[in-house]
Amino acid sequence: MPAEGRTGGREITSHIDISTPSIARMYEYLLGGAEHYQVDREACAELLRVAPSAVSVMRNSRAFLERAVRCLAAEHGVTQYIDFGVGLPARENVHQIAREYVSEPRVVYVDIDPMAVAHGRLVLEEDQGTLVLGADITRPNDVFDDPRVVPLLQARPTAALFGSVLHCLSDEQRPAEVVAQVRERLAPGSFVVISHLVSDDEHDRREISALMAELTGGRWGRVRQRAEVEAYFAGTRLLEPGVTDAREWRPDGRLQPPQGTDEWTGWCGVARI
Ligand SMILES: C[S@@+](CC[C@H](N)C(=O)[O-])C[C@H]1O[C@@H](n2cnc3c(N)ncnc32)[C@H](O)[C@@H]1O
Repeated sequence: MPAEGRTGGREITSHIDISTPSIARMYEYLLGGAEHYQVDREACAELLRVAPSAVSVMRNSRAFLERAVRCLAAEHGVTQYIDFGVGLPARENVHQIAREYVSEPRVVYVDIDPMAVAHGRLVLEEDQGTLVLGADITRPNDVFDDPRVVPLLQARPTAALFGSVLHCLSDEQRPAEVVAQVRERLAPGSFVVISHLVSDDEHDRREISALMAELTGGRWGRVRQRAEVEAYFAGTRLLEPGVTDAREWRPDGRLQPPQGTDEWTGWCGVARI
């Protein structure tokens, strides 16, 4: 099995395992994309049994991330982005959204999933301003110090995007510390964007988290509580409307599927650090 390297105690491999569902491919399936296998679709069917709103929640979380990038590029002129846990290429990717408003954006896309990295290199590495890195976000300094990243990112305001990725980290992987370490490496005036699956119901949190861990062979963290996500923003200046449901963060009128059940939701915010 060819390996690119070892980081965060988890091997970053280029081997695509189609016997175990992958978070990237399950998410792709729930978003309505085409890059997934039978195991991923079967895993999504199981997830939908305990979390029937999964399609709506994922699509609303994705739509939030796209609105956040639009806001940062259009209203704050942000030209640099690091997309931690990019997933498989989307219909509208960060550099494509940003360049509607700023010229020559620079974007580093990071993922641990070999298929996300391989497809990302084919689709997202369009020019000198975009780079796809196979890396583990639990070691953010490896990302910032990568010899391909160093010349790409200048010392200027940068947006660190954590779209639906921090709930993939266990408590032992210290997601709050990951966010803090990233914040330390960013230039003054930078931004952090977070969306995270949350639930008010302890039973739902446990059931969904246990199922996702089982389905993905342990590559999953936890559905958390709202306050835990809000704590990631401690010491920042939140943009209006603060940390909120994905559906309520600056809606732009584009239609998303309504959320029929309330077992979980996407909890989101954008802040200047
Ligand atoms: C649910 S997808 C989110 C995709 C995208 N950020 C969005 O919001 O639409 C989560 C992605 O995070 C990646 N991921 C999970 N744990 C990771 C880690 N430790 N390091 C890097 N990527 C990770 C998964 O492979 C997956 O592609």
